[in-house]
Amino acid sequence: MNTTKVTSGKTPINSQIVTQKIKDSKLDDLGNATIREIKRLVDEIEKATGEKFIRMEMGIPGLPPAKVGVQAEIEALKKGVAAIYPDIYGIAQLKTEASRFIKLFMNLDVSPEGCIPTAGSMMGSFASFMTIHRCNPDKDTVLLINPGFPVHMQQLKVLGIKSESFDVYNFRGEKLRDKLESYLSKGNISCLLYSNPNNPSWICFTEKELSIIGELCKKYDVIPIEDLAYFAMDFRKDFSKPGQPPFQPSVANYTDRFILTISSSKAFSYAGQRIGLLIISDELFNRSYPNLKNYYAKDLFGYSMIFGTLYALSAGITHSAQYALAEILRAANDGEFNFVEEVKEYGEKAKIMKEFFTRYGFKIVYDKDENEPIADGFYFTIAYPGMDGGELLKELLYYGISAITLQITGSERTEGLRACVSLVQRNQFADLEYRLKRFKEDHPL
Ligand SMILES: Cc1ncc(COP(=O)(O)O)c(C=O)c1O
Repeated sequence: MNTTKVTSGKTPINSQIVTQKIKDSKLDDLGNATIREIKRLVDEIEKATGEKFIRMEMGIPGLPPAKVGVQAEIEALKKGVAAIYPDIYGIAQLKTEASRFIKLFMNLDVSPEGCIPTAGSMMGSFASFMTIHRCNPDKDTVLLINPGFPVHMQQLKVLGIKSESFDVYNFRGEKLRDKLESYLSKGNISCLLYSNPNNPSWICFTEKELSIIGELCKKYDVIPIEDLAYFAMDFRKDFSKPGQPPFQPSVANYTDRFILTISSSKAFSYAGQRIGLLIISDELFNRSYPNLKNYYAKDLFGYSMIFGTLYALSAGITHSAQYALAEILRAANDGEFNFVEEVKEYGEKAKIMKEFFTRYGFKIVYDKDENEPIADGFYFTIAYPGMDGGELLKELLYYGISAITLQITGSERTEGLRACVSLVQRNQFADLEYRLKRFKEDHPL
């Protein structure tokens, strides 16, 4: 059991400065601090001490953007697309390539009509919540399968939509069925959302779990929104070959009414251009919900989404970015661009970093997918015996390591932190190991 807390004495980062900066930040409880608040605090400490942190708080890509995208975007801009309003539903080649991509990498059939560009996948979930909420007045609540991305919770808050949630940690495998049914059977759930691979825990639902989610969504007429922000990034399997199994797993294999949000931010390192895809299954796209007529010109889901919600939100997505994404997808579809290979570096770094943390007394919090160890990827979760998340986060700042607590992700594992590997450079590994070693010496177990 650790008893020593570092508030004075010699730590890798000047402890007086860290203590002062925490005080200045006015963050009473670091356990509740948002990602941006932690970022600002660490910026301040780095500035005051001149020391570089092992920064693991923000989930931003650490790789250069997909070159094919940049080239296509430059070409499009030179041709003058910046002057012209793009169609709300997206440019033709993007819709066609997106539909091909879904076929080639997921083995699913979705018409180009239902493949719609959005300003990042965040806009896809926002637009989905808005439209789905208007389908049936009896279904007024969204279920979040947590842990999750805090911004989804924020979206529901600003939309004034009720939500329920549970931490999936204790409900893996067959146990998920009863837990999920206990929510869906009440009849008030309109849609549910989860990310897979999961931010923050990097758990990936197994085929059995996806089938349970799909079957129950079908049974209770609930729309699953599957957030594929980390498309094909479960590196335990090779999802990189177009048209060849294995394919990116999906709930879409178990229900014909689904929404997928696909981000280009991580898989294609294209976060800055804010372009993603909203994929609506054909069955859902063409479905009639009489209640939609109270808000939109028609009762059809796809029509209302495009000409109602998306029109109201942004009236189309940046023209040049659509050309970029169309070309990225075309190159991936034609086997010219192996996007999975480009991002494998995240998994390789995670493997090494997890090994350092566990060597110096840390535990991986979300450690298994049913019986299998979780994949190495963009994030992993850590805890240190005897400390809660807020305390651990604070202590690590004295050792030049930053992360966020799991508490803000809807996780019940309040002892844990989320570590993101993307911004950590390999040339910082020696520093990381030294700092963790010092941490363990100062916090004996
Ligand atoms: C689970 C999850 N969903 C969505 C997003 C946002 O994606 P985009 O940049 O496409 O809006 C992220 C980004 O970190 C994420 O982790």
